Amino acid sequence: SSLVGLVGWRGMVGSVLMDRMQEEKDFDLIEPLFFSTSNAGGAAPAMAKNEKKLADAHDIRQLARCDIIVTCQGGDYTNEVFPKLRAAGWKGHWIDAASALRMKDDAVIILDPVNMPVIKNALAKGGNNWIGGNCTVSCMLMGVGALYKAGLVEWMNTQTYQAASGGGAQHMRELLTQYGTLNAEVANLLDDPKSAILEIDRKVIGRQRALSATETANFGVPLGGSLIPWIDKDLGDGMSKEEWKGMAETNKIMGQGEGFGTPAIPVDGFCVRVGAMRCHSQALTFKLKKDVPVADIEAMIAADNDWVKVVPNTKEATLKDLTPVAVTGTMSIPVGRIRKLAMGPEYLGAFTVGDQLLWGAAEPLRRMLRILLE
Ligand code: HSE
Repeated sequence: SSLVGLVGWRGMVGSVLMDRMQEEKDFDLIEPLFFSTSNAGGAAPAMAKNEKKLADAHDIRQLARCDIIVTCQGGDYTNEVFPKLRAAGWKGHWIDAASALRMKDDAVIILDPVNMPVIKNALAKGGNNWIGGNCTVSCMLMGVGALYKAGLVEWMNTQTYQAASGGGAQHMRELLTQYGTLNAEVANLLDDPKSAILEIDRKVIGRQRALSATETANFGVPLGGSLIPWIDKDLGDGMSKEEWKGMAETNKIMGQGEGFGTPAIPVDGFCVRVGAMRCHSQALTFKLKKDVPVADIEAMIAADNDWVKVVPNTKEATLKDLTPVAVTGTMSIPVGRIRKLAMGPEYLGAFTVGDQLLWGAAEPLRRMLRILLE
């Protein structure tokens, strides 16, 4: 069977990937070779078969033995190792969660329930660089990809509510620590039902503003009880890099825009970090190319793939099924709040939630591995 190198399998995305690969019995189909950046020569995990020792993730000769490499090690690793490996003549398949190679012409952003034709076309042409998309974009397209496939989208505006996990494991810890610190600040007052709410509020804002550099080391400012309307780098033109990715990646995934000889579909909006743990949520506004009845739109979305689920646009169903708490740890991509907006019959609103570690990161990688093994 194929020798599959696994790099960065111990981190947060890597651990989710290992769990999913075990659940889906992917290891039955491969000979895994586990790499490490810090513990080469140590014992490989239980899924190992013949390759019982961890290989050095910087050893180009070991990497070059692999038919396929799957990495969740991060962009710095990709930038350092990938060029050397290709320069050494390695022709294997590189499957990567990091964004480093995502927009390269010879790389495909993989999200097969949405863009299998783009993947198949690249495979037929000898493509061998397969890169996972930005989590927000992947979760959005798993939900509303049907509207893009049908050519119905004139433009899309997105307002995101992105979870702490998008920053990394330390960010999740920091958020929870902040919540705890704030609670401790007013715990006595909370215990007393007669205490004044404005005193509680004053103490909380005082403590938030007094959070030290250590207490905000990862996000830079408090997130618990607040929000941060900027994600990723400042591109210097008023846009955050996360916002830039929305249009660039959506079009590339759909095989649309520059490089495909078609006009790009405008996608723009604001990306906001909120105090959720690992589900990204998004409010979407579409300008459709024509007036399509809501029932038809719901039917198209529901039929698009096995994971999307239309949530009826009622308060009861929304509270039950359309929240990060409802979705976390599941493969489900609910799309709800589907309705026509006051601006006119071509303006459609929707709200979607997705686990950014599953469809947003790990799942497209293991599915690409399966496609290569077919
Ligand atoms: N950039 C995303 C975020 C995570 O910070 O939420 C990964 O795509």
